[in-house]
Amino acid sequence: MAVVVVAIALVWLIGGHDVSLTVNGEQVMAHDGAMLTAVIAEHEAFGARPGRLLSVTGAVLDEAGGLPYTVERAGVRMTAEEVATARVEAGDTLLVGNGADVEEPSTEEVVIAHPNIVVESGGAISYVSQWGRAGEKRVKRGATSGETVDIEVLEEARDMHVASLTPNPAGGKYVALTFDDGPSAYTPQILAVLEEEGVRATFFNLGAEAEKSPAGTKAIVDAGSELASHTMAHANLPTLDKDSLRAEIDRATEALHAASGVTTRIIRAPYGAFTAAEWARAGDIVACNVLWTQDSRDWERPGPDAIVDNALRGVQNGSIILMHDGGGNREQTAEALPRIIDTLREQGFEFVTVTELMELDGRFPKHVVAGKASPEEGFELPDDDATGAA
Ligand code: NI
Repeated sequence: MAVVVVAIALVWLIGGHDVSLTVNGEQVMAHDGAMLTAVIAEHEAFGARPGRLLSVTGAVLDEAGGLPYTVERAGVRMTAEEVATARVEAGDTLLVGNGADVEEPSTEEVVIAHPNIVVESGGAISYVSQWGRAGEKRVKRGATSGETVDIEVLEEARDMHVASLTPNPAGGKYVALTFDDGPSAYTPQILAVLEEEGVRATFFNLGAEAEKSPAGTKAIVDAGSELASHTMAHANLPTLDKDSLRAEIDRATEALHAASGVTTRIIRAPYGAFTAAEWARAGDIVACNVLWTQDSRDWERPGPDAIVDNALRGVQNGSIILMHDGGGNREQTAEALPRIIDTLREQGFEFVTVTELMELDGRFPKHVVAGKASPEEGFELPDDDATGAA
């Protein structure tokens, strides 16, 4: 008998006997001294739903990767560490509830704060009026996602600003004739009309056409007209990545220089398309982007009368008239041109180049008028995907 009592006592002491717990209001039997986590696992977390693992920006990395459940013991919420190390005891009253979302591990670092960009619109000519400056900020970087979240600005970045003005020259009535997409076989014809009339214009040449016909580009400069860039190959610039965009601009400048000896950073973006993102990616290699105030729509070849009407409608001091000396048959343009010039002259207009319009206006920076990109020392471009608008 004594042997049996001793044996039972030994079994009891070594463990192996069960105790009664209350979990979520139900009675549950468990080995005395068992790990709490093992008891919960054995009962499939008592139906608790796990939380999610979130990135530092709140993206879901793992639907069930967060805290698996929470535990209250005798009405007190246990920490994760307490849960991990606790053992059950007879009479425990536990509440096992749903888990919680957990943020991925992260580290803090100090990085460059890129400037933002503010782009004015509505004017015919746009240029950088304030260069961006880098700042510094402390960020949290997710170990899994690589995402960053700003924690603290240490040094404020200065925004890049793009101004947009329509020339308003002082002291007279001035207008600029502009021709895009050349040089072409029609360029000599257009130049002959201009020479006949004693008028200078501005030609936005394509670099690729200047490479094919350097003499056509040189003839523009020799005639006293102004040469500017329509970029290399007439790409729609907002569709290009940063490197391709910069190459379209740089290669055109090189091709025009090779043909004529003139270096210009004055551009007219094909289709006029030059958004905040293009300024952010290439503002430092552009003096200005020149749009137009009158569109002759000569590329539609609507007949010389319609071209004359379109070109003259609403012309005022500072107007920039868009025509084409390339990109197709331009006989109608050449035919309309003398009538456009004669009518404007009768109305008292003087013909100047685009840079002369800017110079007469007085508000444009000197380097812009000189056709130079002139970023200030230590400037920083905005982030590649900037899309600022004013
Ligand atoms: Ni064009």
